Parts: sequence; C-alpha cells; structure tokens
Amino acid sequence: MRVLGIETSCDETGIAVYDSEQGLLAHQVFSQIELHAQYGGVVPELASRDHVRRIIPLLTQTLTDADLQRQDIDGIAYTAGPGLIGALLVGATVGRSLAWAWQVPAVGVHHMEGHVLAAMLETPAPEFPFLALLVSGGHSQLVQVTGLGQYEILGESIDDAAGEAFDKTAKLLGLSYPGGPALAKLAQQGRTGRYEFPRPMTQKAGLDFSFSGLKTYVLNTWQAQTEPDEQTRADIALAFEEAVIDTLAIKCQRALKQTGLKQLVIAGGVGANQRLRTQLAELGQKLKVKVFYPRPEFCTDNGAMIAYAGYLRLSSGASEPLTYGARPRWSMADLAGA
Ligand code: KG4
Ligand code: ZN
Repeated sequence: MRVLGIETSCDETGIAVYDSEQGLLAHQVFSQIELHAQYGGVVPELASRDHVRRIIPLLTQTLTDADLQRQDIDGIAYTAGPGLIGALLVGATVGRSLAWAWQVPAVGVHHMEGHVLAAMLETPAPEFPFLALLVSGGHSQLVQVTGLGQYEILGESIDDAAGEAFDKTAKLLGLSYPGGPALAKLAQQGRTGRYEFPRPMTQKAGLDFSFSGLKTYVLNTWQAQTEPDEQTRADIALAFEEAVIDTLAIKCQRALKQTGLKQLVIAGGVGANQRLRTQLAELGQKLKVKVFYPRPEFCTDNGAMIAYAGYLRLSSGASEPLTYGARPRWSMADLAGA
C-alpha cells in the first residue's frame, strides 16, 4: 500500500509518500520560517495562505521525486488536528478532494500521533509498548504507548510547552524566531556553572511539567546585567537549556521506573535538540532502556510521519466519509485504537 501524507498544521507544508514494502519513497518540506520571522512568531492567516500557495507544487514535486503517477497512490492521509484551523483546512481540503478525485480512501491523522510514530520510520524501530516523550512547540507530554491509538498521557505541561519555553526565552534574549534552534546554538558558547536555574516540579512527585517560571529567571538574570555582553547571554542560554533538558530527563527516568517500560521514544521539534539527545542516551544506558529518536528533520513537522501514521490507520481499516473537518484542539487520549 502506498500512502500520500500531507502536513499543514502550523508553519511547515510537508508532503511524503510511504510504501508499506519499500518504506519512505520521497518527502518534501517547505518551511515558512522566513515568512513569520519578521513578526517574531507564526501569523495564522499568513500560514494558511502560504500553504495554499505551496501545497500543489510540493505535491507534484514529491510524486516526481518518487517517480510516481497519481494512480500509484492507494490512500491519502492529512493532518486533521490539533493545530491552526485555517492551516489544517488547507491540507484536509486538498487531501480529501484528491482522494475523492482519485477514488482512494482518505484518513485524517492526529498530528501528535504522527510525531509519536515518527521514530518507527528509522532502523532499528521501536516496537509497542513504549514510553514517548513528546516535546514540540505546543505540547510537552509523557505518553504510555501500548499500541496504535492506545495512548495514556502520564504527565504534561501545566503551562508552556517545552518548545514554547525555548521560543519565548529566546525572544527575551533577543534571538530570532524560531527560538529553539537559535537558543541551542548560542548555548554552545555558554560556560557551565556560571548560572543555575531551578528544575521545575522535580522536587514533588508526579510527571507534569511547568516551564513558564524559567522565563522569569532568564529575564531577571538578563536584566540584572549592568553591562550585558555576548558571553553572559550565552551563559544564560546554556543555564536555561540545561534546566529544561535536566527536567525532561528527570521526568523520563521517573516515568520509566513507574511503568517498567524498556523503550523510550523521543518525538517533536525539541527532540532535535542535541543536549536532549545526548542526555537521554546516557539515561538509557544507565537504566538499560533503548532510546529511539527520529532523524532531526523528522522531529520537526513533516509529511513523512503523517504518511506513515496514515498507512497504519488505513491498513487497519480506518477511512473518512466524504464529509471531513479539522480540529484545532484534540487530545491524543481521545483517539481510538485500530
Ligand atoms: O514539532 P514542531 O516542529 O512543531 C509543533 O508541532 O509544535 O516543534 C517546533 C518546536 C519549536 O518550539 C522550536 O523552537 C523547537 O521545536 N525546536 C527546538 C530545536 N529545534 C526545534 N528546541 C530546542 N532545540 C532545538 N534544536
Ligand atoms: Zn509538530
């Protein structure tokens, strides 16, 4: 079965084709970063309009890259939520309409389910059951994944998501959008030990996160500088990054102990962070737990994860009626199994 995947939930247009025999045949991502950078964040209406502009040329390019014709496609998967409603509707409308025109089934995929399953595109791939750490711009969650659609949220952020905390803190430090990669780059120049920020919510039991207070530490530390220099900025960036990553690692360790699971899967944009990858690899060695990450380009938003999740859904019999829609808010816990 060959599935075309379409991702348009936020500021990346992603298209991919997944083949159940041969794996991923082609994928393309167009990032709108430049478009939104001048505003310091994603402008929803501009995002929708750009998806409209990009989606068909990108789709044509992806089919050409894979040397495929439209009759080679057996099903279409599009991100149906959560995300920006206008952006989601572009992918859903194109996906559902093409499926109707090409007379193949269509399925709406949950964006975070796509992220959770993205590591399965790699070799070696994790197998159910596993613990997933989902860290993106909109979500920080620890999820017990028992099978397709069987997701129990063990803990989540009570305020800012991890990626959001990176983005907002980067902005405070005067870095450009998107802040996560920029802050991580600056932190490489930082010196360990000059500043130490708290590891929020690690003192008390439980698996929830809270990252919004860290912003205040960064702001106060930065504003307290009488002569702020580049080295200080880097030192603060490093202290912030260490605090977030340590906190995530502490909670992963706790969740692994609590569940007894032996595989940890990292997913979402913050999963591209090198410090996180290194620290969780060390944790895995210590606990004798296998740690899986998608390649960095499949941590951030992409069509490949949607094509793959869509393939699993379609091959287990799911498909949408001709009426379709998109859901800006949608909990993974509400998904049904296959
Ligand atoms: O999964 P994603 O591409 O989009 C959402 O579904 O939200 O995640 C984007 C988030 C942004 O907040 C971005 O700053 C963050 O992931 N991010 C990073 C890194 N690369 C992307 N955060 C920290 N370090 C990185 N290297
Ligand atoms: Zn995402």
